[in-house]
Amino acid sequence: MGFKARMRFSAREGAFRARYQQGFPQKALPNLASNYLRGVYEKVLKPLFFLMSPERAHYAAMDLLVFASRVPGVSWWMRRRAGKRNEGRSVDVAGLTFPNPVGLAAGFDKDARWLDALEMLGFGFVEIGTVTPRAQGGNPQPRLFRLKSDRGILNRMGFNNDGLYPAAGRLVRRPKGLVVGGNIGKNKITPNDKAVDDYLACVDALHAHVDYFVVNVSSPNTPGLRELQDKEPLSKLLRAVVDRNNTHPGSRPVFLKIAPDLTDGQLDDIVDIVLEEKVDGVVATNTTISRDGLLTPKDEVEAMGAGGVSGAPVRERATEVVQYLASKSGGQFPIIGVGGVDSVEAAREKLAAGASLVQIYSGMIYEGPGLPAKIVAGLPADA
Ligand SMILES: Cc1cc2nc3c(=O)[nH]c(=O)nc-3n(C[C@H](O)[C@H](O)[C@H](O)COP(=O)(O)O)c2cc1C
Repeated sequence: MGFKARMRFSAREGAFRARYQQGFPQKALPNLASNYLRGVYEKVLKPLFFLMSPERAHYAAMDLLVFASRVPGVSWWMRRRAGKRNEGRSVDVAGLTFPNPVGLAAGFDKDARWLDALEMLGFGFVEIGTVTPRAQGGNPQPRLFRLKSDRGILNRMGFNNDGLYPAAGRLVRRPKGLVVGGNIGKNKITPNDKAVDDYLACVDALHAHVDYFVVNVSSPNTPGLRELQDKEPLSKLLRAVVDRNNTHPGSRPVFLKIAPDLTDGQLDDIVDIVLEEKVDGVVATNTTISRDGLLTPKDEVEAMGAGGVSGAPVRERATEVVQYLASKSGGQFPIIGVGGVDSVEAAREKLAAGASLVQIYSGMIYEGPGLPAKIVAGLPADA
C-alpha cells in the first residue's frame, strides 16, 4: 500500500475507532445485524417455512443455520458480536456463571445436535432434551401445529429423542463458552413406579457432560408423567436425583420443571419440596393443557387434538407462576422463567416477576434467529 493510501486508510480507521469508542457502533451494530436478520426472516424465510409442516420447517431452519455458521467468517463475526453484547450481562445462578440470562428452552435441540450454531445466535445457555434413557420415536405425526393468530404452538411430540448415549457423545464436543443444561425424563414404556430408575440413568450418563440438570415431570405428552408432580412421588424422585447427583464428582445444580396448570396449593407444595429436598431451582413453566382465551377458532384447535400450548397464550400464566413461587419462597431459590418470551419486554416481565434467567422456544418460530441477540442487547448491562 502506498503512503497516501495508507494515510487515507488509517484516517478512516481512526474515525471508525473514535466513533466506536464513543459507543456508536457498539450500540448500532447488534441492532443493525439483528434488524437485518429479522427482516430476512420476516420477509423471506418465515413465509417459506410456514409453507412447510412445522416439524419439517424446524429441521430445514436448523440445516440452514448450520450451513450459515459454516460460511467462512460468519460464525467468528457473530460470536465476536455476542461476546461484546454479553459484556456486563453475565449472571451467577446456582453456582454457575451464565454469559447472559437468555437461554434456549428444552425441546428445541433435544439431541444436542446444534449447540455451536445456537451459541452463535447469542444464547447464554441451551437446555438439551428432554432426553430419556432409551431412544423413542414419540407420538405419530402430525404432532406439531401453529396457532398463528395466537402466536402460539401446540405440540404433542412425546419426548422423541435419540436416547442418552448419542446425546452424551455429541456433548463431548460442546462449545466451551456456553452453559448447557440436561433436561431429563422417563421413557413412555417405563411405568411410574419405575420412573426413578430412568431419571437416575440420565444423571449417571449425562453428569460429566452438562452443567445443570432439569427434572422434567411436566410434559403433558407422556401419559401419567404429570402425576409425578404430586407431593409424595415428587419428593421421592427429587431426593433420589439429588442424592445420585451428589455421588458424582462436582455435583450439578438440579432444577425442577413444572407445568403452568398447577393450582396455588400445588405450587405451595412445590416450594416446600424444593426447599426440603435441596433442589437448586425451578424452571417455570412448561406448556399448558388449557385452551382458554385462544383466538384460533375452537373447531380448528379441537381438530389439532391433544397437546401442550406454548408461546404468547402461556405468557401471562407463566409469569404469574414465576411471581407466585418467588414471593412464596421469599426468593430462596432461583427461577428460570419460560413461556411466551418473544421480545425484550416479555423477558423483562419474567425478570421483574422474580426470574433470574429466561428461556425461549416459540418466540424463535415467530420472531426468528435474531431474537436472542435482540433480547440480550435490550437487557440492562451490570444490572
Ligand atoms: C415443540 C415443542 C417441544 C417441546 N419439548 C419439550 C421437552 O422435550 N421438554 C421440556 O421440558 N419442554 C419442552 N417444551 C416446552 C418448552 O421448553 C417451554 O417450556 C414452553 O414451550 C414454553 O415456552 P415458549 O412459550 O417460549 O415456547 C417443548 C415445547 C415445544 C413448542
